[in-house]
Amino acid sequence: MSQILDGNRVRDLIKAECGPRVQRLHERAGRPPGLAVVLVGSNPASQVYVRNKTKTASDLGIYSETITPDPAITTEGLLKLIRVLNGRPEIDGILVQLPLPGHIDEQAVLLEVAPEKDVDGFHPLNMGLLATGRPGLRPCTPAGVIQILKRHDIPMAGRNAVVVGRSTIVGKPMALLLLAENATVTICHSKTKDLAAVCRTADILVAAIGRAAMITADYIRPGAVVIDVGMNQVTDRAEAERIFDAAKLEAFEKRGSLLVGDVHPGDMARLASAWTPVPGGVGPLTIAMLMQNTVEAAERRTGCAPDA
Ligand code: GUN
Repeated sequence: MSQILDGNRVRDLIKAECGPRVQRLHERAGRPPGLAVVLVGSNPASQVYVRNKTKTASDLGIYSETITPDPAITTEGLLKLIRVLNGRPEIDGILVQLPLPGHIDEQAVLLEVAPEKDVDGFHPLNMGLLATGRPGLRPCTPAGVIQILKRHDIPMAGRNAVVVGRSTIVGKPMALLLLAENATVTICHSKTKDLAAVCRTADILVAAIGRAAMITADYIRPGAVVIDVGMNQVTDRAEAERIFDAAKLEAFEKRGSLLVGDVHPGDMARLASAWTPVPGGVGPLTIAMLMQNTVEAAERRTGCAPDA
């Protein structure tokens, strides 16, 4: 029997740990942690993500506000808005929901967020702190993967970890975080030769590609730990037949679409010693880690660190 790595349980643990820290900040700093979320445009997925983020913040007693500028806002306009948020003392965390509309210079915007308020961990300074092994705010999704592994007592030191995908949001910071845990890390991408063979060297395989069930049986060494970061909506019937078992296919017929990760769910369950389901694996951690980063940013900014 393989072990299902339960992201919802780890999320609940991390949220529960934030509670007393928020309380403590209230008592010592006289205010809750504050999070500002900037949402430009009307991307439906982004709207759902942002609602979930602010709802979770409110559940934990974290102050949050969502700023929705005119979708036609220019890069310069957005930079000005970020500067205002950088200067507001009661705001500890600033999150600019991605993707931004095409006419906006995303890199320039992410660079403008004050590094000490960069709760997404996307600022080059925070990336540099991660790369050089110093404390800083870490990107939420890969930090959540590390929490899943640690809290299921899965050792990383000395093990071969293969990360498929080299994005700035997941792949690259994931590799650096695994390296910081003393794993032997390989990063793969679209130009990697014989990807399946490289993946089969993995004790810990992390898939962050963004392609539905691309990682199939011949990529997975029997007994490997498989972490599926992907979230893909399958709408094509033939594709659904390739991916899902009979019960899931029935659900697909009813809904017309179904969520799947980057790893073939049946192959993963059959071959992996431990694996994250989609949904219910890595997904729930992203928001929990955002809350933890917001609390941490508030503790640092107010000088109320737990051991201070
Ligand atoms: N869009 C998809 N994932 C993320 C994330 O982790 N942070 C932000 N800001 N936008 C995203």
